Amino acid sequence: MSGPLKVTVIGAGNVGATCAQRIAERNYANVVLLDIIEGLPQGKALDIQQSAQVLRFDARIIGTNRYDETAGSDVVVITSGSPRKPGMSRDDLLLTNMKIVGEVTKKVVSESPNSVIVVATNPVDAMVQMALHVSKFPRERVIGLSGVLDAARLSLFVADELKMDVDAVDAYVLGEHGKNMVVFPRFTTVNGTPITELMPAETISKLVERTVGGGAEIVGLLKTGSAYYAPSAAIEHMVESILLDKKRTLCCAVRLNGEYGLNDTVISVPVKLGEGGIREVVELDLTAEERQALSISAQAVRELIGVMKLS
Ligand code: 2OP
Repeated sequence: MSGPLKVTVIGAGNVGATCAQRIAERNYANVVLLDIIEGLPQGKALDIQQSAQVLRFDARIIGTNRYDETAGSDVVVITSGSPRKPGMSRDDLLLTNMKIVGEVTKKVVSESPNSVIVVATNPVDAMVQMALHVSKFPRERVIGLSGVLDAARLSLFVADELKMDVDAVDAYVLGEHGKNMVVFPRFTTVNGTPITELMPAETISKLVERTVGGGAEIVGLLKTGSAYYAPSAAIEHMVESILLDKKRTLCCAVRLNGEYGLNDTVISVPVKLGEGGIREVVELDLTAEERQALSISAQAVRELIGVMKLS
């Protein structure tokens, strides 16, 4: 990549604007914040830019309603769409958000044909498939926000339960970003020790259950929107790994081509994220029972993707 790095964030709602803020503050790329509402991205971008002197960053951030200003972006984050209201599942958003993500992706691709697209819109696994379908990008360049966020939530709950620092915890959360999320406790470790050796099975089930409902818990509290501080932090972590070629292993929603014995579906699995997007899909050594759990989750997403009737 040559010249200053450029990230576009589509959607200046809570997830998009907070994501733009986090990326600008990290100071590795200039940011374009785009929204269809006039004045909204401009106002938020200007406000973020005015924090530069206090926070000591020199990244530039602009707000716009025009796609030509996004041209040549290295990474484009798509956050556009309706968020959940209390009582709604992520799947309830499918038909509304597939139209929005389809239209946005078309415009993104014509301005930034070599970009990596990070999708945050829900239901995210199906929206990754939609963006892949419209963009015709290779699967390495269309990645969804999923397991990084779910693993961050689980790590916090584990750390709190054990009264440990959260940075001692590593977690993998696979499968659908939804009720069919798959957590294998033996892959959740504290300073390298699996939590199966650190807490009783009932406690683990309780923490896993809270993780699966992690987004809904916040929707229920906020009432008028869904989570955005942790989601935007997770997106920034993915964007940084791509742009700075960190090759971090992170669980993301990706299209599978036979890995884990699965095809024709998008779910969260661990991948190495670096320059150009997915550098490698990491295959964990799963037991037959674990593979079965993942396959059930993959089937649920396959059915959801089917509802979109993409040819
Ligand atoms: C969440 O889990 C927004 O799906 C996102 O909070």
